[in-house]
Amino acid sequence: MANIQIRKYRHEDSETVKELFTSGMNEHLPSSFVHVLKQPLTQMFLMVTFCALITSSQSFLLPVLAVTLLLAGVRQMIVYMFNQYIDASLKNDLNDISETYLQKNNSCFWVAESDGQVVGTVACLPAENMPEFLELKRMSVRRSHRGKGIAKSLCRTVADFTRESGFPAVILYTSMVATDAQKLYEHMGYKKMRQFPIPEFFAKIINFTLIEYRLDLEEEK
Ligand SMILES: CC(C)(COP(=O)(O)OP(=O)(O)OC[C@H]1O[C@@H](n2cnc3c(N)ncnc32)[C@H](O)[C@@H]1OP(=O)(O)O)[C@@H](O)C(=O)NCCC(=O)NCCS
Repeated sequence: MANIQIRKYRHEDSETVKELFTSGMNEHLPSSFVHVLKQPLTQMFLMVTFCALITSSQSFLLPVLAVTLLLAGVRQMIVYMFNQYIDASLKNDLNDISETYLQKNNSCFWVAESDGQVVGTVACLPAENMPEFLELKRMSVRRSHRGKGIAKSLCRTVADFTRESGFPAVILYTSMVATDAQKLYEHMGYKKMRQFPIPEFFAKIINFTLIEYRLDLEEEK
């Protein structure tokens, strides 16, 4: 891994960190759309709309137009769902990274730097619902720097910090469509603990789930 340095976050990294987080999240929009299209409920709804309109209007154009509009609506809903999550994150922990991650015990935020540029991020803090574990968050690597082992190094940084802080395990949540992230975590020894729907109306309809992973550090000894 040439020219990559992992260091603690500094105030001047703020904008790049937010941009890396936002672009990393938005990358999952196309796969989320494909996921929705694969749902039997979506396919049935589109088919019923198409058949009902073609029978009632005797026109081919109207049902094609209606289905196109429905698909555009579905895409907008997915964009809305992602934007809600991105905005909430930017207003919460990413609004003041130093305060959230650097001024509290058992928390930290790191960046990966290549030739003076921030190209990756990761953070950890005590998990909200399981404070006996640290939670890995905000993993993202710039597209141009993928496949070089940067995420693996960031994962190791979090595991070392967790071990040194005396916690027995790292947990994290990732979405069902983040397949590169799932491969990364499984490669790093994380075990899938459970999969559950996001508790939001639209997410439930489209069967959009989160996966909880755990890395047991005591097992590794
Ligand atoms: C997931 C992500 C962080 C991986 O970053 P990366 O620096 O390219 O990952 P690495 O080079 O360290 O690869 C680590 C391992 O992950 C797996 N992996 C990563 N990307 C993969 C891909 N596209 N296909 C298959 N396996 C992949 C491999 O097992 C790889 O190890 P190997 O090269 O020894 O086989 C990056 O794709 C990303 O930022 N995605 C968008 C944001 C995101 O999804 N974040 C996670 C939110 S929970």
